[in-house]
Amino acid sequence: MHERDKELAALAALDEVRPGMVVGLGTGSTAAHVIRHLGERVRGGLAVTAVATSHASEAMARAAGITLRDFADLSDVDLAIDGADEIDDGLRCIKGAGGAMLREKIVATAARRMVVVADGSKRVAALGRAPVPVEVLPFALAFARARLEALGARVTLRMAVATPYRTDQGNPVLDCAFPALPDPAAIAAIPGVLGHGLFLTEVDAAWIATDGTVTRLERQG
Ligand code: 5RP
Repeated sequence: MHERDKELAALAALDEVRPGMVVGLGTGSTAAHVIRHLGERVRGGLAVTAVATSHASEAMARAAGITLRDFADLSDVDLAIDGADEIDDGLRCIKGAGGAMLREKIVATAARRMVVVADGSKRVAALGRAPVPVEVLPFALAFARARLEALGARVTLRMAVATPYRTDQGNPVLDCAFPALPDPAAIAAIPGVLGHGLFLTEVDAAWIATDGTVTRLERQG
């Protein structure tokens, strides 16, 4: 059921895509529906290009026939479409269960419009059920961990089976459970922290599907 809702949310968001756009492609199982259906539309003649927020999404987009741009050459994109782990009614999100939050944050910030696609299980009254993932320079791992704990977080080093998980950039991730929503600026200010999964201001709209019904939330003001 969640899978069909993810696909319905993806299809609704894709109706925002216009010819000529540069589209930011998110990461994760909901973004995968976006990529697959965008590929179908491209093969049907829709002229768009895209940037990918992870190696996995890049491979998926290539296989789907979507022309990819190197984001290093771009200062902005027209529309970013991405999933989320949690989203509240104020369009504040926690992202990064898939480990791509650093590139996702860059592309979301570069996007003229950023939309989240999600099934209804991601909608929460208050953020905090999911930990906040923090990508850290390996050199600063213990130092950053201590500083995050000093901010009140219960910190877990993300593992990939028996070894520490590494992002596409080769960095470890500290999953941080905070007792209350932390100040993102305090996390970002720790030297060695490269990115985190709190997206409090980046999201303009969300397409959320619950039991087959798609709802659009739009940022007010
Ligand atoms: C990856 C992300 C994903 O968008 C988030 O984890 C949601 O994934 P899914 O659509 O598979 O539930 O932030 O870094």
